[in-house]
Amino acid sequence: MKRAKITVVGAGMTGSTTAHWCAAANLGDVVLIDVDEGIARGRALDLAQSSPVEGFDVDVVGTADYADTAGSDVIVITAGSPRKPGMSRTDLLNVNANIVKTVTEQALKHSPDAYIIVLTNPLDAMTYVAWKVSGLPKHRVMGQSGILDTARFRYFIAKELGVSVRDVQSFVLGGHGDTMVPLVRYTYVGGVPVENLIPADRLQQLVDRARNGGGEIVQLLRTGSAYYAPARALAEMVEAVLRDQKRILPVSALLEGEYGLSGLFMGVPVLLGGSGVERVIELDLNDEERAAFQRSADEVRGMIQELEALGL
Ligand code: 2OP
Repeated sequence: MKRAKITVVGAGMTGSTTAHWCAAANLGDVVLIDVDEGIARGRALDLAQSSPVEGFDVDVVGTADYADTAGSDVIVITAGSPRKPGMSRTDLLNVNANIVKTVTEQALKHSPDAYIIVLTNPLDAMTYVAWKVSGLPKHRVMGQSGILDTARFRYFIAKELGVSVRDVQSFVLGGHGDTMVPLVRYTYVGGVPVENLIPADRLQQLVDRARNGGGEIVQLLRTGSAYYAPARALAEMVEAVLRDQKRILPVSALLEGEYGLSGLFMGVPVLLGGSGVERVIELDLNDEERAAFQRSADEVRGMIQELEALGL
């Protein structure tokens, strides 16, 4: 069987770490592309040279030429200006929309059958840009944020309780921003509702920390933003698509009536498999959760309106 081909656009910390997770899991040959050819080639070569030790058989190459990405099955877009301290995700809107637009057009020209996974912030708006520019059916364009946000929430809960992260299940939905919606009611630890294990006020602190998870790391790093966990979350999506895993994962997907919303990308649980976003799963939300989801949708819609006003 032919090996899958994965293009990762952007050879910064997130892009190169995504290439790392994908290669180490033998998901497919990886092409790391960046406007800075030296960085792309250098990081790819360094990663490829770890293969005899780590024992992966896929190849990793770096390039600045989209011709080298031809025939990719999945295109992961990490390119964009990173969030700097004090900068909101929304501040990034204009700069990154142009980058995502160009990248999507270039990449699709050489890989017309690819699935597109976006990570560039502000995530839900940039995924919308990629979908709009690509003209692809909605199941082939998706954004990564919910797996990351949920992983942060799961991690904090696991640490709080002193249990394995593997035994904490949760969903963080909504837009990837301060209004994201950690669903406490759908959070279980070894099958036990988390609300039975952690007092409400403490749980709220963990919710707030998860919401501010990206910002906390930006503050600590001073330059740049998180990349290990975002990149690992991307690899999870790449794997689900390439291996047709039928995972149920929180993914930014185009809503067309689900959750009472239309015409925007938002983090929702989806069935992710060989055909991309195969189905949006509608959870039963109570009034409070629905209101929080709506607030988050309003924020995402505001960004889309801004983009449309700019003609993007
Ligand atoms: C994060 O949440 C930067 O959005 C990224 O870490």
